[in-house]
Amino acid sequence: MTEQELLRILQQYGQDHLADYYHTLPPRQKHDLLQKFIQFDIHLAFKVYKEFCLKKDSGHAIRAIEPPRVVTIPKNIEEQRKVEKARLAGEALIRQRKVAVLIVAGGQGSRLGYEGPKGTFRISPLIDKTLFQLFAEQVIALSRRYGVTIPLLIMTSLENDRETVQFFHAHSFFGLPPETVHFFQQGMLPTITPNGKLLLRNDGNFVVNPDGHGGSLKALHDSGLLKRLTEQGYEELFYCQVDNPLVKIADPVFLGLHAVTGADASTKVVRRQDIREKVGLYVYVNGRDAVVEYSDIGDDHMSAFDENGDILYWAGNTAIHIFSLAFIQRLTDHGFVLPYHCAQKSVEYIDHTGISCATDVWKFETFVFDAIPLAGRTCCMEVIREEEFAPVKNKEGNDSPETARKAMMGLHRNWLQKAGIDTDPDTKIEISPLFALDSIELQEKIKHMKFPEKKDIYIE
Ligand code: UD1
Repeated sequence: MTEQELLRILQQYGQDHLADYYHTLPPRQKHDLLQKFIQFDIHLAFKVYKEFCLKKDSGHAIRAIEPPRVVTIPKNIEEQRKVEKARLAGEALIRQRKVAVLIVAGGQGSRLGYEGPKGTFRISPLIDKTLFQLFAEQVIALSRRYGVTIPLLIMTSLENDRETVQFFHAHSFFGLPPETVHFFQQGMLPTITPNGKLLLRNDGNFVVNPDGHGGSLKALHDSGLLKRLTEQGYEELFYCQVDNPLVKIADPVFLGLHAVTGADASTKVVRRQDIREKVGLYVYVNGRDAVVEYSDIGDDHMSAFDENGDILYWAGNTAIHIFSLAFIQRLTDHGFVLPYHCAQKSVEYIDHTGISCATDVWKFETFVFDAIPLAGRTCCMEVIREEEFAPVKNKEGNDSPETARKAMMGLHRNWLQKAGIDTDPDTKIEISPLFALDSIELQEKIKHMKFPEKKDIYIE
């Protein structure tokens, strides 16, 4: 981009304050500003901004909501048989090298109050393993179990890419072959004030934000990774967020259900704990399956009960999905199709006199679950919260490191109990994914092992 083009675009979008500022800069800083400007799609940002000015949310208006159809936790032998059939189908997919894994880790972990990339947060109860290490070890264990290499894709953002990549290098990729780990960056969008102004931070960068986890699908396409995986014969992408240490990476049962349903997009849900729990609701809306975010749905829906006194919209989104690669291709082939959401937040910036100020801005993001209503077929599977969902979101209280560690220990204590080993409730327990990925594997391997009483147990 030339200087003339930059100035023309700034004028087109009413950014005279930035044009004036630009003219005051020495040549080197002018060059830097131009380089920063081309890092985001300004035309897209103002297109979305205008839509929100017209109060025209590019999402669809909600007409009628109903509870969705969900494959619930098996209640009898027949349902259990279906699960076992699904497991075999899912295992076959992994063995045939059809499955890749994506962890989205580009967000800002501000609620947790942690400075580094969230995946570098130490979470395991005894050994203090990081979230990234736990996921990497699961991928290694799965690869060994099924005799394949499973590609691990990690989505970062401008804000944490370098640190994330360095972290993997510093830890020798936790034993994964480095060529099977693929980092790619999601896009950034400028935040815009309600009266349409772009802002600069005091380090000279524009005030920007990652474009939401929906941006993972766009970035997969734009980075060429989608094409590469497809050419290598991969067909399904297991997707999860970096914040849940209990996630069962590439769960064969889930993969199998997705495959036998012929789904393009599948989702794991848990029963909502209570009507206040901050999860998205998996519902049937406007004739399609969809996730509606807790902040986008009225209290009447969030707190509705059925005739038995149970929560009516009970299915909480765990943000664990499978997307078929062909479906992602369709969503991105002719321009990215997910709708943008707008959130208001307060940011610091420098004004034209160089003084640091704070103001409210609009931040635009897409949500990956908005792909679900666009899918030809969908599949939704209920899972047991204690086994699969303990996200780390807040510093304290609900969804905090403390609750996640408790859940991890509870799960592993339960595995030991199933293997006939009772443990003192005051002891800490941790089982490495490299030793066992589930209770069945633990039972098989643990038969002749002895554990000292009243001592913490780490099994590796
Ligand atoms: C999210 C879901 C919610 C679900 C809950 C389950 C949204 C909007 N809502 O809530 O429906 O019930 O998880 O735990 O997602 N991320 C990126 N790039 C971004 C933004 C986010 O990689 O630009 C990643 C973050 O690293 C994080 C995850 O996505 O791991 C969650 O994003 P967040 O915006 O914090 O959503 P939640 O409120 O956690």
